[in-house]
Amino acid sequence: MKKLRLFTPGPAMVPEDVLLAMADPIDHHRTGQFRALFKEVSELLQYLFQTKHACLTITGSGTCAAEAAIVSCLPKGHKALICEAGKFGQRWGKICDAFEIPNEKYSLDWGHGFKADGVAKMLDEHSDIDTVIMTHSETSTAAVSDVEAIARLTRERDVLFIVDGITAVGAIPVKMDEWGIDVLITGSQKAMMLPPGLGFVAVNDRAWARIDSGTARAFYGNLKAYRKSFASDDTPYTPANVMVKGARVALQRIRDEGIENVWSRIASIARATREGAGAIGFKTFATDPVDSVTALVVPEGVDEPTLRKMMRSKHGMQIAGGQDHIKGKVIRIGHMGYLDRFDAIAAISALELTLHEMGHQFELGAGVAAAQRVFAEG
Ligand SMILES: Cc1ncc(COP(=O)(O)O)c(C=O)c1O
Repeated sequence: MKKLRLFTPGPAMVPEDVLLAMADPIDHHRTGQFRALFKEVSELLQYLFQTKHACLTITGSGTCAAEAAIVSCLPKGHKALICEAGKFGQRWGKICDAFEIPNEKYSLDWGHGFKADGVAKMLDEHSDIDTVIMTHSETSTAAVSDVEAIARLTRERDVLFIVDGITAVGAIPVKMDEWGIDVLITGSQKAMMLPPGLGFVAVNDRAWARIDSGTARAFYGNLKAYRKSFASDDTPYTPANVMVKGARVALQRIRDEGIENVWSRIASIARATREGAGAIGFKTFATDPVDSVTALVVPEGVDEPTLRKMMRSKHGMQIAGGQDHIKGKVIRIGHMGYLDRFDAIAAISALELTLHEMGHQFELGAGVAAAQRVFAEG
């Protein structure tokens, strides 16, 4: 028997009760029942996002939600600062370019997170920038940016702050209202413990004022349409209503566990993974490592594609590889979704066994012992 375990940084593992909720007979979405469900999910989303503002549900992946946010918040006459240090940061620049939205790129080496002083310098140098777009957890490099301090800076400078929280919301501390984030985005297949298919955008009053100041270069992604339907607990276009059913159960789980407990569970899994992998020769890639996903540099002499292939075919353990110039050099292990400490130990154990089967020399068991020590020491 081989059991598939999903340790990719999205999609992530989904609890059985969420899967069962989605196996209910298909219903129509223009009904009172759906509106009641949608209202409940929207309220649970506010807890997840730590906001009192509306969290809009968009049928589409995270990119769809991010595109809607970017295009809606940047009508003609505005200019964005794109903070890019990985695949996803770069994507927001590509969206701006595709919609001819003026933007300035601020790039760091992959593995680094953005800090407030660097962003401040860019804003000093480009006084026409009125919007900052940032990826909180850069999944391609597993690095975290200092969103709390950058939110403070954008408040001081009266600059709109759009945050891709796709592998941050529900995984690491993100406090939309307390920190002062204007627009926060996530996707269903990450820390929300759902399959891919829904994107979510929370929008505060400052961002709505910006959105209302112009005409978005979008139709499906025009957030004004979502706000209008949201007022009657509805969506403008056919929603993935089966996913909304699953979202209720997944979000109730997060609320019952308590968001701070979710953050600390994921943080300890991340720590155990870094320690466990470190003990068998893997260095953490990121200079500023995030806790939702870990990127590990594959030791010299180990063939990365073979390692990943064997982990899946022999041990049912699906992990991710690197992208672009770090392809073949790193593996990425996700810590989001329906995972506990024993899942984390299983991931390290499968990594160890695979390395051993590939003939790599190291002390078998050192990784599992190091990971267990993290949990034992609390
Ligand atoms: C940080 C981040 N941003 C954006 C995306 C894109 O989301 P999607 O693949 O759901 O469109 C991802 C997906 O991995 C991500 O991790």
